Amino acid sequence: MRIFVTGGTGAIGSAVVRELIARGHEVIGLARSEGAASRIAACGAIPMMGDIALPELWATRLPAIDAVIHTACDFASDMGAIERHLLDVLLPALAAQPNKVRLITTGGCWLFGATDDTVVTEATPFDPLPAFAWMVPQLQRVLASQSVHGIVIHPAMVYEPAGGVFRRFLHDAKEGRAIRIVGREQIRWPLVHSEDLAALYALALEHAPAGSSYIGAAIESYPVGQIASAFAKRFGGPQTPEIVSTDTIATELGEWARGYGRDQHLSGAKARSELGWRPSHLDPEPEIANLP
Ligand SMILES: NC(=O)c1ccc[n+]([C@@H]2O[C@H](COP(=O)([O-])OP(=O)(O)OC[C@H]3O[C@@H](n4cnc5c(N)ncnc54)[C@H](OP(=O)(O)O)[C@@H]3O)[C@@H](O)[C@H]2O)c1
Repeated sequence: MRIFVTGGTGAIGSAVVRELIARGHEVIGLARSEGAASRIAACGAIPMMGDIALPELWATRLPAIDAVIHTACDFASDMGAIERHLLDVLLPALAAQPNKVRLITTGGCWLFGATDDTVVTEATPFDPLPAFAWMVPQLQRVLASQSVHGIVIHPAMVYEPAGGVFRRFLHDAKEGRAIRIVGREQIRWPLVHSEDLAALYALALEHAPAGSSYIGAAIESYPVGQIASAFAKRFGGPQTPEIVSTDTIATELGEWARGYGRDQHLSGAKARSELGWRPSHLDPEPEIANLP
């Protein structure tokens, strides 16, 4: 297939581009800077210059494509307006493509509430973090659209041992500082390794029916304190973490970062049973222990 990817330099999109190239697909990646274009080209994809905030400059210039995977997100305060405008322009442009285009767009675990021990599935009503509430109507638009074959993936917290949502832990640990945890040590995150998540996007691309949603959680819930402790052990820093309030992290990074304090439990069972998803990274601790 020929697939257009947005966000191909990001935590999710870069893994998706690598996975699609490895599966023999042709990938065109949106790039908003020369640096992003070089990184996309280095993965074997074809860069196309453009900004998600200005889709009128590129959406109608897309060559014939089979699918779009949308992972780009500008974590600015106007990200809702950017996404709405993007779909206003992109959906009609895709409707004018020669074949019906499969459009996979990205939601996320923070569209669901703090669930304690209740397990979230695709049937659970949304209870989004206020900073991401804009996302829900845009995802519903994609799922309901008659002009594309719309699919939504809701990633859990995306990690690599030295990156993704673990990057801040690694940074604190390497600096020899107490590792900062938002909320409390007992908070649990649903997790997925970026490679496993990329495999799920590829499976959804090939097999998911129109209008379907999948939660990409390989590990349903994992105590954040245990992750922090694994980093402290590996790098020999202070074992006791520093607890940071959600207000502090929101002031530091933006309102969206309040999600780090959500205690959640998400199930990836539907992706496993319907798409045959078989994530292979099921315990981050040995991966952290083996970091160089
Ligand atoms: N990471 C997670 O744990 C996680 C979990 C659940 C859901 N999600 C959702 O998944 C999406 C992607 O997250 P991520 O972690 O992969 O984000 P990320 O690592 O910050 O990557 C964002 C990507 O979007 C691109 N981008 C940002 N603004 C752009 C613009 N104006 N025009 C064109 N490209 C632009 C960036 O390109 P540049 O290289 O040019 O900056 C980058 O490739 C978000 O909607 C997020 O809420 C993420």
